[in-house]
Order: sequence, then structure tokens, then C-alpha cells
Amino acid sequence: MRSTGAGELVELGSGSAEKARILLDEMANAGGLQRYIPLDVSESVVRDAARQLVEQYDGLQVHGVVGDFQRHLERVPPHDGATRIFALLGGTIGNFPPGTRRALLRDIGSVLGPEDRLLLGTDLVKDPDVIEAAYDDSDGVTAEFNRNVLHVINRELDADFVPEAFDHIAFFDRRHEWIEMRLRARRPCSVLIGDLGLRVEFAAGEELRTEISAKFTRARLDADYAAAGLALECWYTDPRELFALSLARRA
Ligand SMILES: C[S@@+](CC[C@H](N)C(=O)[O-])C[C@H]1O[C@@H](n2cnc3c(N)ncnc32)[C@H](O)[C@@H]1O
Repeated sequence: MRSTGAGELVELGSGSAEKARILLDEMANAGGLQRYIPLDVSESVVRDAARQLVEQYDGLQVHGVVGDFQRHLERVPPHDGATRIFALLGGTIGNFPPGTRRALLRDIGSVLGPEDRLLLGTDLVKDPDVIEAAYDDSDGVTAEFNRNVLHVINRELDADFVPEAFDHIAFFDRRHEWIEMRLRARRPCSVLIGDLGLRVEFAAGEELRTEISAKFTRARLDADYAAAGLALECWYTDPRELFALSLARRA
């Protein structure tokens, strides 16, 4: 972070901004910190993070943006002359299939200035048993997280899923090198999604794909960056090479 001399941090999918604090501290120590721009689909998340950070960092400007980073990058305000880091952390990029992922990277690349950088978090390919265990913990936390999507559809789209009627499935797809989460109907069920006027029939054992989480190699990321008009500049990983952060610029 220090080597970039950046004064602004734009975080895409900022959530609670826990990781942003580490980056903001580094930028503040280097003396260049001016502005933090969190962008998230959740307004309450953006408001809470903005409120806390303004209190915690003397003189920090915070410009929260509520939006979808796949559609609303133009809502990010123009820069103030400072170099910017756009950060997409926490492995979120892995939730997009390859074509969409490259399109998103291309869109981010199109708003980077020549001195700006993208800081990207990517979970790395590792032993499939380790990956599968992480997505199917014995306490059932991931299973509940997975079923939660049905609660959200019920609430937001007036649907009548019975989440308990679905089993949590997680497996590593070795060909695509991604974790896939699904929900499998325990018995036949008929679901009405009221706001869409849609009735969906599930046979017993029929599955609904709820999430993918792609795992990366450096070579794959290089290829994704190249396809998106970006170039990998720095690669940082932990000693066991479980996760990587990379810094990229416009090619
Ligand atoms: C896994 S959390 C990561 C939060 C934080 N960046 C971190 O690494 O700790 C993903 C965040 O991205 C947001 N998000 C997911 N898809 C998004 C999208 N298309 N546009 C904007 N925000 C999105 C979610 O609301 C959530 O707050």
C-alpha cells in the first residue's frame, strides 16, 4: 500500500470495512490518506462503516456509495487528484463465473487511472478435502448460511420456500476448480415466488445451485487480468499459499 502512494481507497463490496481499516492505517502511516469510498449493495452496511470510520480517522473524508459494483461503478465520485486503490477483497471475485468475472475486471480497469491500482483478494487452489471441509463445517454454520438464501427470497420476493426441506450440499468441482453450493430438496415441493408470479416444482433430490466460489492459481489470474486489459504487478501470499492478494494496473 505504501509503495503505491495512494490517497484514496475505493472498496467494492465493503461490508463491515474490517479489512479496510488495515489498509487505511497503512495509508495514514505513509501520510497520504485522504478519502475512503465504500461501495456496497447494503445501505445500512455503508452507513454504519462510514459513521465509524469518520470517528476513528482524523480528517478522513468518507463518501459512501450504495450500489451494485457490476452496474454502478459510475457512482464512484471522480478522484481528487490523489492516486487510488480499488479493492475487491475477501475472495468475492470467486463468486462470479469466468465470463462475468472478466467483464467485472474489465469494468474496474476502465475506471482506473494510469497510477491507480486494483487490489484483489483470491482464494487459492488447494487440497480439495480442505476446501470441502471449509464449506461443510460440522457445526452446520455454512449449511445455515446456504439455506439463508431461501429465507431472503421468501422475505424479499414473497415466496414460500420451506428452508428446512432442503439439504446443504457443497463439493469441489475439480474441472472448474470451484466450490459449488447447492440445496437439495428432501421431498417433492411446489414453491410460489409471489413477486415474480412464478411457481417452481422440485422433485425429491432435485438441486438448486446457490453459489460458486472459484479458487485461483497465479496463472489463471494472469490470464483473467490479460483478458480484462489489466496486468499483474505484485503478488502476495501466506507461507502455505492458501490465499493471495494481488496488485494490478491497466496494461
Ligand atoms: C464477503 S463480504 C466481504 C466484505 C469485505 N470486503 C471483507 O472482505 O471483509 C461481501 C460484501 O460484498 C457485498 N456485495 C456482494 N455483491 C455485491 C455487488 N454486486 N455490488 C455491491 N456489493 C456487493 C455484500 O453486500 C457484502 O457486504
